[in-house]
Amino acid sequence: MTVYAIIGGTGLTKLEGLTISAVLNIETPYGAPSAPILRGNYADREVLFLARHGHPHRIPPHQVNYRANIWALKHAGADVIIAVNAVGGIHAAMGTGHFCVPHQIIDYTHGREHTFFAGELEHVTHIDFSYPYNDILRDELVEALAAEGVAYSSHGVYACTQGPRLETVAEVARLERDGADIIGMTGMPEAALARELELPYACLALVVNPAAGKTHAIITMAEIERALDNGMDKVRATLARVLAG
Ligand code: HPA
Repeated sequence: MTVYAIIGGTGLTKLEGLTISAVLNIETPYGAPSAPILRGNYADREVLFLARHGHPHRIPPHQVNYRANIWALKHAGADVIIAVNAVGGIHAAMGTGHFCVPHQIIDYTHGREHTFFAGELEHVTHIDFSYPYNDILRDELVEALAAEGVAYSSHGVYACTQGPRLETVAEVARLERDGADIIGMTGMPEAALARELELPYACLALVVNPAAGKTHAIITMAEIERALDNGMDKVRATLARVLAG
């Protein structure tokens, strides 16, 4: 049976409903992952869970050890990865509380350790990354969102910014011209590293605020936390449907 790994983002540092059977403290050639990997049972299936920002939430997006996280999940036995990400909405359809299963990503990050293919190599490897997300997993997420009856978009372009600050209005306008629909800070290099280790990967994004300039108000952490509180039950229900499927 396929072993699903779930990477929980902001608002999902633990997976309620997960019956934990093992807590894996995995050291990797790249250092320690953000938190121990939890192995357990969720919706009658064996799953692995990792809190991207640590548990409790303490690691900012630009300091997440993405290489250690992906390497550790692979070595814990993950076959596929579903990443959960809180994002800002750019496209008019992406209001607070909306879900998006992105099909493309643009990387605006810098200075992050972003590849396993560095250092002393026997040969140089360039992975194909034309389609960063796995369509089978994307379809599973879309079907689950539809069954859950929540508002969602089955496609979207995810702009990954460096953070930890939010964007300026001009930056969001530029990302929109680039074709981005949602913005987050953690989609990359996570997706590319999963591809390098041949792990099918998809993202379940929850919009937690309109991106800068999309309303007249400034963005507050209180608004983001409220949206996370309101959305996480739906995230868990969606994941349970995917796993039960
Ligand atoms: N920008 C970038 N990352 C985010 C945002 C945003 O507006 N909201 C949640 N993560």
